[in-house]
Amino acid sequence: MTAHAVRERGYGDLFDAALAAHANAHCPYSRYPVGAAVRTSSGKVFAGCNVENAAYPNGTCAEAGAIAAMVAAGERSIVEILTVTGGATPGTPCGGCRQRLREFAGPDVVVHATTVDGAVTTSSMRELLPDSFGPEQLPDG
Ligand code: THU
Repeated sequence: MTAHAVRERGYGDLFDAALAAHANAHCPYSRYPVGAAVRTSSGKVFAGCNVENAAYPNGTCAEAGAIAAMVAAGERSIVEILTVTGGATPGTPCGGCRQRLREFAGPDVVVHATTVDGAVTTSSMRELLPDSFGPEQLPDG
């Protein structure tokens, strides 16, 4: 699929938001820019990019940036997720980010992992993080 075809699919707004964030990624160490965008139940889109640090463990993932923007805006409910990476194969969210997303996204929420050139792998949160732990497991969740 081409980038143009991704835009025809109904999540073009997520793709464009994630692509714009991807272009601003701060990744001088990995040279692996990532963009992420989430759509909330109110219909708004929030994006983020990876932000690396000279003290390597302090770097943050694109998904964490998108979630932070969403929460700062007062939103809590994710209904659709998209990531953008370079290369031929989409980079799906890392394990830590699957858990971060799970806090705000139910098992049926769809995750589109895409590339700049328009390759797409679509899966659900249930597939990416089966038998997951979430707020409901906690006594007051
Ligand atoms: N990265 C993300 O932004 N999201 C992921 O889900 C996987 C990895 C970033 C972290 C680091 O800046 C770079 O990609 C290489 O691991």
